[in-house]
Amino acid sequence: MSDTKVDHVVIPGTFDPVTYGHLDVVKRAHRMFPRVTVGVAASATKHGTGPVFSLEERVCMIEEALDELALADAVDVSPFSGLLVDFCHEVGARGVVKGLRAMTDFEYELQQADLNSHMAPDLESIFVMSSPEYGYVSSSIVREMASLGADVSFLVPNVVSERLRERFGM
Ligand code: PNS
Repeated sequence: MSDTKVDHVVIPGTFDPVTYGHLDVVKRAHRMFPRVTVGVAASATKHGTGPVFSLEERVCMIEEALDELALADAVDVSPFSGLLVDFCHEVGARGVVKGLRAMTDFEYELQQADLNSHMAPDLESIFVMSSPEYGYVSSSIVREMASLGADVSFLVPNVVSERLRERFGM
């Protein structure tokens, strides 16, 4: 473990697409740490066929959502491929922040945090409990609802609702 202060954190994810749950974690990390970078993983093989939205689209939607929240100047958004720990070192971050919803998140996140800590003991893994109103929100639920024609505007920012409508032809 390093005794250097954690002054810059990465919030990593696939963000396919970004939800109000993710943005809640970003807002809270922004309150706690001087510098926040949202790291958008290429995740090319996720769900077998890869993400629904391209890496550029996912980055763009986050930037526009941060703009709506007046956080665009305070939070960086950057794509990455390869290991999260390497990306953190590249941007000079000393910690990783993730949101935890139910217990089902816990085992997966603990495994990731253990592996990351093994590969990069200098990086701290920090978890924030999701706000109760966003505990059930996930990108996969948003994708499924949108593909079935449901209105998801209470789960995602306007920019995302619009892109989902275009993608699923609603
Ligand atoms: O929002 P997600 O899709 O659950 O985020 C998962 C993510 C992107 C954070 C995770 O898959 C990740 O860290 N990917 C980068 C590759 C990596 O470092 N894998 C080993 C972690 S132990």
